[in-house]
Amino acid sequence: MDLNKEEQQILDGEFGEGTQQAMELIVALGKIYGAKNLVDITSAHLSGASYKTIGDGGLLYLKNMVRKGVKVKVTSTLNPIGMDRTRWTKMHVSEHFAKKQAEILELYNTMGVKTTCSCIPYTGTNIPKFGDHVAWAESSALSFVNSYIGARTNREGGPGALAAAILGKTANYGLHQKKNRCPTVVVDVDIANSIFEYSLLGHVVGSMIGNGIPYYRGITPGIEEVKAMAASMASSGAIALFHIENITPEHKDFDTSNLDVINIGKKDLEAAREDLNDTNDVQLIAFGCPHLTEKEMHEIASLLKGKKKKAGIEVWFCTSSSIRTKCPSDVKIMEEFGHVLADTCVVVSPIEGVFSRTGTNSCKAGNYLSALCSQKVMCRDIVDLLRIVQ
Ligand code: F3S
Repeated sequence: MDLNKEEQQILDGEFGEGTQQAMELIVALGKIYGAKNLVDITSAHLSGASYKTIGDGGLLYLKNMVRKGVKVKVTSTLNPIGMDRTRWTKMHVSEHFAKKQAEILELYNTMGVKTTCSCIPYTGTNIPKFGDHVAWAESSALSFVNSYIGARTNREGGPGALAAAILGKTANYGLHQKKNRCPTVVVDVDIANSIFEYSLLGHVVGSMIGNGIPYYRGITPGIEEVKAMAASMASSGAIALFHIENITPEHKDFDTSNLDVINIGKKDLEAAREDLNDTNDVQLIAFGCPHLTEKEMHEIASLLKGKKKKAGIEVWFCTSSSIRTKCPSDVKIMEEFGHVLADTCVVVSPIEGVFSRTGTNSCKAGNYLSALCSQKVMCRDIVDLLRIVQ
């Protein structure tokens, strides 16, 4: 790889062991993927925030980075953690877990990372611009900024995104280069317009095309629907970029006339929905994967207004602290039905052993609750799920 003088000095350890370690990782990734050089980034978004997902090994890694004195060079935000910072007892989280989680947060803070802890930082705390090179982990968020904003990031892992944040640079390969952002298949869609249908659509397409780049025709999603699609495509498959005709910024930049065409309709979604459901009887229903936007908070509150909650099933609404603070009247209504939790989510919190059957309106959560959290899953539209607790 061609490194400039300063990059080479960092690699040689002239600026300290921490930045050297970060450069070694970025250069190693660049060599694996055929990068010729590094590219400056404007922001990073880091995963590896929950004690549940990184454990003591991850905590030690972060402690070592802090001991070596590293700081992030660009705006860097953090993914959801394993608990609400003030309401963790409502989530049945143990004191041991809470203590470890607080340590992790403090370490990221010391490195200069904004510990806002949301998987939708693109709605507030970290908003890239079209054409920006960024290094984002969190598969749903990176897919959103690639696709809806036209920023450029690869599907980073936690350590790679942190290394890039420390350097303010990443290896220039993959989706950082326009030539690799071409669609690989056209997807013609005939579905209704609910968020759940968009989540199912993403689930179906992710399962079908793995890590391809779909070019959608026949849909007109808004931000919330794109967020749902991005999340499910990145979990049933490994899709990091998609185009939507007349919506995404780069949709006109590529010739799609010779691509294969897949048709997706209601029957495909229904088959996926059946596949994702393996219980009719839940103990917990969780909304907010990815985190609820202000618009979704208003919509849920309006669905619940004036209704009475049935006893028995626990309900979690997950969002960011800033969105929770901005929606006090919605929160008041939602708290009649459950806990409005900030900066955490059902997948990265330690629910195993507390619950074994969980409901969600997100196909991403549907996939991960069974694969990562030992849950039987009910995956339904938001209105159907809310009906169960009224
Ligand atoms: Fe966000 Fe957790 Fe879902 S991090 S995308 S709410 S699994």
